[in-house]
Amino acid sequence: MSDLRADLERVRGEARDGLNAAHSRVEVEMLRHDLLGRSGQLTGLLKQLASVAPDERPAIGQLANEIRAELEAAIGERLEAVRHGDLEARLADEAIDMSAPGRPIPVGHLHPVQTLMRDLREVFHAYGFEIFEGPEVETEEYNFELLNIPADHPARDLWDTLFVAEPGSFEAGDPRPATDGTILRPHTSPVQIRAMRALDPPIRVLMPGRCFRYDAVDASHNFEFFQVEGLVVDRDTSLADLKGLLEEIARALYGREVRTRFRPGYYPFTEPSVAFDIGCLVCGGEGCPACKRSGWMTILGAGMVHPTVLRNGGFDPAEFQGYAFGMGPDRMAMLRHAIGDIRLFFSADLRFISQFAGGR
Ligand code: PHE
Repeated sequence: MSDLRADLERVRGEARDGLNAAHSRVEVEMLRHDLLGRSGQLTGLLKQLASVAPDERPAIGQLANEIRAELEAAIGERLEAVRHGDLEARLADEAIDMSAPGRPIPVGHLHPVQTLMRDLREVFHAYGFEIFEGPEVETEEYNFELLNIPADHPARDLWDTLFVAEPGSFEAGDPRPATDGTILRPHTSPVQIRAMRALDPPIRVLMPGRCFRYDAVDASHNFEFFQVEGLVVDRDTSLADLKGLLEEIARALYGREVRTRFRPGYYPFTEPSVAFDIGCLVCGGEGCPACKRSGWMTILGAGMVHPTVLRNGGFDPAEFQGYAFGMGPDRMAMLRHAIGDIRLFFSADLRFISQFAGGR
């Protein structure tokens, strides 16, 4: 039965080599399983002891037990060594060079038009205005009829826009496809009606949002832009209130020294209507290319809410009056930063945008 003795010595030798070659916890555990597991090699040899001649059995049994104890101890030692090795390797990987300079974390910032709209919100908030928003895809009714712009009225041309066509209702090149009654809103004025119908007086709301127009794109026109609409409805409101408010707003935005003026204007939904100008921020009023040599820059249109529009909003014009104004934040941001081309705002060109990282 010296065969069994030889087998035991062979397994002992192989186990030692295997353990020395094992460099991770998993490798050692696999080896343990192969040797001492229920169908492991050493376990198999121990079972053969029963068939060894009785006179040889004690000696071989003793040897087998010795080997098992020895391997169990060796496995335990190897596990410990490997665990340290793993840890050391991991620590070496994670070592931090405290002397290396930090990596800059890129931080975004607001777009200059958004910064301006935020400033508008803040200034108007001080005068009690709340934010009220309406949809960008608007019905023709809210955008035109309810604002006192009947079908086929020439004033519609001022807000020529992008119509939403019935799916499949037109062929390429069709000049007048059937619309489904909705448009991309060309101004935020339809939100006036929505606000009047949703809120109880006194109403003081600011209505910011994206607008769209079927405009040829050039340095001062884009098919997509922003407006911030304002509306006040109350008893005893007058053009003097509108005038006073806008002058205060201009001072808050452009400084106490800013010069302002009102000019007559025309909008179907306000009567009377005005345009509001500030003294040119670039030349201070002397006349320069930025103000087309007039010394003035127009920043908004406004007026007293037309009685028909008040009625459409659910108010009796004998009892309630109101005023409304529509500001162009893109244009106002261009004035603030002396930017000559509106298309830059929509260009997503970081060389342009990152110049406004400071907010203002
Ligand atoms: N909606 C007008 C425009 O887009 C601006 C405006 C708003 C005028 C409110 C008067 C009152 O040009």
